[in-house]
Amino acid sequence: MIELKHLKKQYENATPLQDVNAVINDGDVISIIGPSGTGKSTLIRCINMLERPTGGQIFLDGVDITAPGYDLTKARRRMGMVFQSFNLFGHLTVIENLMLAPMDILKKSRQEAYDTGIALLRRVGLAGREFQYPEQLSGGQKQRVAIARTLAMDPDVILLDEPTSALDPAMVGEVQAVIRDLAKTGKTMLIVTHEMNFARAVCSRVFYMDQGGIYEDGTPEQIFDHPQKELTRRFIRKLKVLEFVIDSRDYDFIGAGAEIDRYCIQNDIAPRVKYRIRLAFEELVQQMLVPVLGQAPIHVILEYAPAEEQAVMTVSYGGERFDPAQGDNELSYMVLKKSVEELSYSYDPAGEAPNAVRVLIRE
Ligand SMILES: Nc1ncnc2c1ncn2[C@@H]1O[C@H](COP(=O)(O)OP(=O)(O)OP(=O)(O)O)[C@@H](O)[C@H]1O
Ligand SMILES: [Mg+2]
Repeated sequence: MIELKHLKKQYENATPLQDVNAVINDGDVISIIGPSGTGKSTLIRCINMLERPTGGQIFLDGVDITAPGYDLTKARRRMGMVFQSFNLFGHLTVIENLMLAPMDILKKSRQEAYDTGIALLRRVGLAGREFQYPEQLSGGQKQRVAIARTLAMDPDVILLDEPTSALDPAMVGEVQAVIRDLAKTGKTMLIVTHEMNFARAVCSRVFYMDQGGIYEDGTPEQIFDHPQKELTRRFIRKLKVLEFVIDSRDYDFIGAGAEIDRYCIQNDIAPRVKYRIRLAFEELVQQMLVPVLGQAPIHVILEYAPAEEQAVMTVSYGGERFDPAQGDNELSYMVLKKSVEELSYSYDPAGEAPNAVRVLIRE
């Protein structure tokens, strides 16, 4: 059991943790979510004392590990950390990466460290890769090695800081599968992640961080479906609904495409659906509307309904009545029409943005 009491971390220019209080029970699998800069990374780095808290206490099974004179190596042995950027040693083979700490710190024999390493590689789906170097592996494979390396120390608690956010979208699933498998084994885990469906599938609790602490704590259903507090609600809405306002020809469409990708990962949207969402966005907004509307703002709202497995994109804009079907970009209109299940245009002269195109994309 880990108990955080009035935990505080103050840097020169920021105090991300003002007063954090929580009880983390053995076997809890907790996802930590929240806006950028709210101290999610700081919190998990403080828990294993990679960062020294500037106030408060952390009790590990009743022992205050922040107390002066406490031998930190004891606590660190029980907690393993997985970073966003893998942090493997590039000059060592995969198996050497896995053997290093068990031999060095746990004083395991070479043979024992090797055998454990091989078994762990099999467990993360990388049997046969032991003599390769990290640079020969994909990002997803590197992260699975990093997880195996953490497991080689047999920690009681595993801390993961956005373990899939540096990965190519195609590799997110394989790493999530390994983490899901781990969660079932009863290890205590804290995972910083924004991937809602993943969090729902593996976590028993969610911490929403904001305002210098754990602002709201609940089950995934409570936090994702029925958040109680204002800032949580706002954040969850942003996870569920993607909105853009495009107001110039120089709009960063590449950035918008990346945002759509991120949104699709958070919502666990199938790659084929994602591809069609991007296609519809590019053809409709970039190819058909921006050239006609110029600087006039275009409002795009993308919302995914997991139960129906369908995405709805609503694109609204001002000005004269303009139905893209009547525009002169026939090729784009044809591509758009083919990539969506439903396409409709409406005009409401009384509305703030009288023109609206709605497309629906289903798995
Ligand atoms: N080593 C440091 N020195 C000074 N300030 C720091 C340090 N680490 C973090 N901070 C500051 O503390 C705040 C919280 O940072 P932290 O990385 O914990 O946020 P986060 O919630 O993990 O954000 P993100 O979602 O972007 O990863 C930020 O304002 C950051 O600039
Ligand atoms: Mg972070």
